[in-house]
Amino acid sequence: MTDQVIGRQSAHALINFFDDQHPPLGDFMRDVEEGLSATPRSIPPVYFYDQEGSALFDQITELPEYYVTRTELDLLGKISSELSLRAGAGAVVIEPGSGSSVKIRTLLDALGDASGYVGLDISRDHLIAACEDLARDYPDVAIGAVCANFTAGLKLDHLPLPDGRRLIFFPGSTIGNFEPADARAVLAGFRSGMRKGDAVLIGADRVKDEQILVDAYDDAAGVTAAFNLNLLERIRSELGATLNVEDFTHKSIWNTELQRIEMHLVAQRRTEIELNGKVHVFEVGETLHTENSHKFTPTSFQLLAESAGYTVVKHWSDQAELFSLYWLEPNWEA
Ligand code: TRP
Repeated sequence: MTDQVIGRQSAHALINFFDDQHPPLGDFMRDVEEGLSATPRSIPPVYFYDQEGSALFDQITELPEYYVTRTELDLLGKISSELSLRAGAGAVVIEPGSGSSVKIRTLLDALGDASGYVGLDISRDHLIAACEDLARDYPDVAIGAVCANFTAGLKLDHLPLPDGRRLIFFPGSTIGNFEPADARAVLAGFRSGMRKGDAVLIGADRVKDEQILVDAYDDAAGVTAAFNLNLLERIRSELGATLNVEDFTHKSIWNTELQRIEMHLVAQRRTEIELNGKVHVFEVGETLHTENSHKFTPTSFQLLAESAGYTVVKHWSDQAELFSLYWLEPNWEA
């Protein structure tokens, strides 16, 4: 089923293997048509990440208001010796949704003696480039790339991995971008790539002062707004929709009940989006919901982890209690 290229036969000379699991790509047109016709209106967040969107996202991670990335990186550095002890010698790090693979460097440096790394992402070219960069910088780590949708579980059995302890690394509070039921399924799905002794190291953003949260997703420089509005720009330019981007503004809202930040595009005046012959009318204040970022308390995260069949073995947080990292181990008897 998978075309796997190993070792020297690889077209990508720097990495040890590339395994294409041919993830089905979303249908942008269909998803937008469905999302505009639904009540409430929403668009799946995967479509944020075209080239412009990915560049804007990289900028978001460096904004003063967006404490998430730097807090997690700091924390990883602070707990490095403990991570190295827990992982043991020759660990194999597996990173679902690896993207540009920045944080992995901090983790590999912390571990010091990892034997392998596997980046797993749906975006093929970006993935290969990032893994090649990593291979250049970490010549002692066997690096592999898997093009797959990690939400469907991890298929690793056929891969030529070193046989150290596997550490699934899932940073960035990406888990919070899923609805609770999907988050549980994603975590449970990681178990398909794990054996006894393996663990998950996962980052989860914390519930905190509302203003800090709202500002993190609505920065003064307007980068997050541009990131959100870029979705409309894509719908216009790639799908041929007729719409006025200027009629919408970015809004970040804390939903207390569901413990999540929501990003919306809000109509500032009565406006229309015409797509494929269908007109979608937005009254003033009507919104298009584009992203959720769920936040966790140590207790709510523990409940999520346990519902997915894990034990929280260790929890770390920064001093200001902005962000948490958790070490999870599957309950094999369950
Ligand atoms: N998972 C991170 C978060 O929720 C990063 C992220 C995803 C994000 N989508 C975003 C950040 C949109 C800002 C805007 O914080």
